[in-house]
Amino acid sequence: MELTNITGLKGEVTVPGDKSISHRSIMFGSIAKGTTEVHNFLQGADCLATIGCFRRMGIDIENRGSFVLIHGKGLHGLSAPDSLLDVGNSGTTTRLICGILSGQPFDSKLSGDESLNSRPMKRIMEPLRQMGANISSILRNDCAPLYITPAHLRGIRYDSPVASAQVKSCILLAGLYAEGETSVTEPSLSRNHTELMLREFGADLRSVYSLDGDTKATAIIRPCEELYGQKIHVPGDISSAAYFIAAGLVIPDSEILIRDIGINPTRAGILRVCEDMGADITLLNQRKEGGEPVADILVRTSRLHGITIKGDIIPTLIDEIPIIAVMAAMAEGTTFIRDAEELKVKESDRIETVTDNLKAMGCNAIPTADGMVICGGTPLHGATIHTLLDHRIAMAFSIAALAAEGHTKILDSHCVDVSFPTFYDTFEALL
Ligand code: S3P
Repeated sequence: MELTNITGLKGEVTVPGDKSISHRSIMFGSIAKGTTEVHNFLQGADCLATIGCFRRMGIDIENRGSFVLIHGKGLHGLSAPDSLLDVGNSGTTTRLICGILSGQPFDSKLSGDESLNSRPMKRIMEPLRQMGANISSILRNDCAPLYITPAHLRGIRYDSPVASAQVKSCILLAGLYAEGETSVTEPSLSRNHTELMLREFGADLRSVYSLDGDTKATAIIRPCEELYGQKIHVPGDISSAAYFIAAGLVIPDSEILIRDIGINPTRAGILRVCEDMGADITLLNQRKEGGEPVADILVRTSRLHGITIKGDIIPTLIDEIPIIAVMAAMAEGTTFIRDAEELKVKESDRIETVTDNLKAMGCNAIPTADGMVICGGTPLHGATIHTLLDHRIAMAFSIAALAAEGHTKILDSHCVDVSFPTFYDTFEALL
């Protein structure tokens, strides 16, 4: 994809359904009794990989584009897959499905693409093994491909070293098949879609947050007889909206209304960051849909300034750091991003991919052990962007390209298909 700078983005957009919620709707719908109807399902490659895995385990899933129907077979209704489960590029599919597979009475093997097969799986293998699961890394490198055989699971109290919704969800899903109570405590609350949605499906699950300044959060699940099919409306993905928020703020003479976006507080850290940076950003029409808060987001071109981003807010904006870094490069002053070492184990090492590509565009961006320092205010110039097939790098640097002098080439831009296949078309509609 070749891009040059533009001005005056004006109009309204919607973005595809939330990736995290779309994955969970397929997984929970498959192990629930009866039909689950999912509206505004994200037709991105990651979520299609989740559909593929559950179809291989005998679940009839009708993907009708505008909505998806899952004919769930109940908690014990999955059947042995006839071949390898292909999880593609999707960390969420991999880590969550392992929780379910660990409780099944059949063997399973799963594998993904080169990037996925290099991402750490010890973080789920360890707690699953404590629960009694038989899960192993076939190449003995603590990564996928993974092999899981039947086991009797028992509940544990797991104190997770990372605030990770994938780790938390994996353990809670295994907890559905375990004897006794399973609890997961994380250092600070990560996205809570699993807790909200599993409860809607009828799971016996509660969440405990401390109110005394200790930021630890615990989710506790007990096995139940059955989950029951639901009707789900997936809100627009704030992680996809983030690119339009940033575009509206940094491209001169712009005003964009982004409609129907999920603003669950465990996901909405980017809104606080924009406000702190001085953005003209307004939430309109705030409401609740299917248990999740939703709003329309209005943004206008703004003069941004650098800030420090660290601590408990990090898990609520972890996927937005590449685009926040791009905004920081265009802001006055310096932005410090700390406590974000998790960036190293995303679809690419995002500390490296973000700072390398910002440097290529003329910004003084310094990688650190747990984040980065971005010296803003120097005009960006066009460059060749190495995405390393990471969808969020392709999209974040497409926005940088629209605000930079000269031409930018985004290599492997097709990787946006992972979470936002219509990304470039949605932009064209605003021109
Ligand atoms: C996700 C959790 C996050 C996030 C990922 C989606 C989820 O990962 O980065 O894109 O749907 O649970 P971690 O749990 O590893 O932080």
